[in-house]
Amino acid sequence: MVWTSRPVSRLHGILRAPGDKSCSHRALIMGGIAHGTSQFTGLLEGDDVLRTGAAMQALGATVTRTGAGQWEVTGTGARGLTSPAASLDFGNSGTGSRLMMGLMAGYALTVELCGDASLSARPMNRILTPLRQMGLTDTAEPHGRLPFRLTGSAALQAITYAPPQASAQIKSAVMLAGLNAHGTTIVEEAKPSRDHTERMLRGFGAEVGVTRGAGQARTISLLGGQKLSAIEAAIPGDPSSAAFLIAAGLISPDGNVLVEGVMSNPTRSGFYDLAELMGARLGAEDTGDAAGERLIDIQSGSAALIGRNVPERLVPSMIDEFPILGVLAAFATGETVVTGAEELRVKETDRVKAVVDMLRANGVEAEEREDGFVVQGCGGPPPGGGLVETRHDHRIAMSALIMGTASQKPVSVDDISMIDTSYPEFLAHMATLGADISEGAA
Ligand code: S3P
Repeated sequence: MVWTSRPVSRLHGILRAPGDKSCSHRALIMGGIAHGTSQFTGLLEGDDVLRTGAAMQALGATVTRTGAGQWEVTGTGARGLTSPAASLDFGNSGTGSRLMMGLMAGYALTVELCGDASLSARPMNRILTPLRQMGLTDTAEPHGRLPFRLTGSAALQAITYAPPQASAQIKSAVMLAGLNAHGTTIVEEAKPSRDHTERMLRGFGAEVGVTRGAGQARTISLLGGQKLSAIEAAIPGDPSSAAFLIAAGLISPDGNVLVEGVMSNPTRSGFYDLAELMGARLGAEDTGDAAGERLIDIQSGSAALIGRNVPERLVPSMIDEFPILGVLAAFATGETVVTGAEELRVKETDRVKAVVDMLRANGVEAEEREDGFVVQGCGGPPPGGGLVETRHDHRIAMSALIMGTASQKPVSVDDISMIDTSYPEFLAHMATLGADISEGAA
């Protein structure tokens, strides 16, 4: 179903960021194996996270919604996870499927995994390779795509693993398997990926070692056999979802957007650092902490943006923000160049291609690079007027709708249903700001 975002002269408002997707998955996963009953508030109720909750329930945990964003999870504790009665469908969720593969590898169970068309096209060998070294068996084809069956083992062996990609999903899958392995599992990261698994495991009472090496390198170690104890936690706001609202404030002719309760974590802050390099002035005020993470309120307003070469060191900490960065780059003066971001090719869709196509469909000059893209900024509102093909990618859909709030002509997308995977309140939040987004063609 086509939806259209029409340009508006003003976007003002105060909003609360939805619960962080990465932390919400991890809360359900760790709560589901902990001893005792955990309570979570502010949990993201997007489809991706709900599927992780359903998977934990199918494996033996008790996962109950007690109110809006409020969830109670009774972990399996010493009993451990058991084979589910039916196959586990992870929908669109790379994080859910990959973290769960790591977790399930450490239990004597057999499970069938599947997902939607987008997830079934994404690479899983990056997860299967280290898990097989630890003792997992599976029925995956050599190309490593879902669906396949996994058989875990209660006798996994710890490994030392250096993921070839800067990926929190690989790191987390290995660590979650390591939780139930004999010996100390070590992950050597050349570039730091988001560290929510390390932080949350500590919150649940596990000991996790982190040492810094040369440059940005980090070594994470985890002794197997550690028990997790239930916690009570508020899930921090998602900086990746907040980035859409902040960008909307920056490109609006009269923008004033305040997003409250956003997680401030250096492994997630690349988009905000880059927006400031492009000329944005973002107000940030510390407001406490939640689940071991710092919280801030972030404010954005209309800005004259300048195109930049995106420093490669920022890439891992803004890996989900390249679609919305593409939109900022379209409004900026001058060229924006993204390199060192080949991981974009294997996200919910090939995001290098999807971003470039989104921009071109709206009259913006952009071209693909093997490991990134180049955008020629319009020095103000881009033409717009295009219909964007979203390809099951929530972040492409939201980025295109944000672009339409301030482009010269409306911007349409071919589908919005998948926005529910990460940000079910997106349309309501945009309406609060004063956006004009509705069903139908322009
Ligand atoms: C995530 C890790 C990132 C990110 C994804 C969430 C996580 O993926 O893109 O949205 O929660 O661990 P990669 O590990 O593939 O970089």
